[in-house]
Amino acid sequence: MASEVTVLFPREEIRERVEQLGAELTRDYAGRTPVLISVLKGGSIFLADLFRVTLLPLRVEFMSISAYGGASGPSGVVRILKDLDRDIGGEDVLVVEDIVDTGLTLSYLLSTLRSRQPNSLEVCTLLDKAVRRIAPLGMRYVGFDCPDRFVVGYGLDHEERYRNLPDIVAVDPETLSADPDLLVPYLTVAEGSASSGEVVGPEGPRYSPR
Ligand code: IMP
Repeated sequence: MASEVTVLFPREEIRERVEQLGAELTRDYAGRTPVLISVLKGGSIFLADLFRVTLLPLRVEFMSISAYGGASGPSGVVRILKDLDRDIGGEDVLVVEDIVDTGLTLSYLLSTLRSRQPNSLEVCTLLDKAVRRIAPLGMRYVGFDCPDRFVVGYGLDHEERYRNLPDIVAVDPETLSADPDLLVPYLTVAEGSASSGEVVGPEGPRYSPR
């Protein structure tokens, strides 16, 4: 059981949901030129897909931050490693996140961005681990509710690996640390053969290699 991998969000489901979010943004921001801010590195894949299905003359900015954590987890104190290239004063800003967990990192980021006086400031996260929330946040756009499991893929990493996994899978991080190549067979571009909730053990079905 320990080495089980569960496909939580297969690529097809992600694609469909991202298209729906893009349609919502296109409608909600009609007539405006929003600035989409992606937090490196995890949010970059979601951003790349989302902004191509958002039919608006939008702008994209990247930020890089480092969250200080302690033995008890994230502290909510964030250092900006790479700031925005342009001012966001008076702009309609949408922060695009891969996952919001405790919410401490995002909460700090939002207060920093709010101090720059944008016209509006909203959040679009692909995954929402709401059960772990410490800092209350109003998030306008959520792709999927995420169970309290460690997930990797579609931008999300485990020790900087597996961001390029096409599906989002749940796996025990300690198992993955002990067997770092466990998810290598999932790095494929095969026709999606996994379905939501499928449990795949070490000897179980794999995506067929090309
Ligand atoms: P928060 O401040 O606790 O909300 O932390 C959010 C950040 O933690 C995300 O941007 C991710 O980088 C990371 N994170 C939280 N949960 C996961 C996970 O299940 N897999 C990979 N990274 C995660």
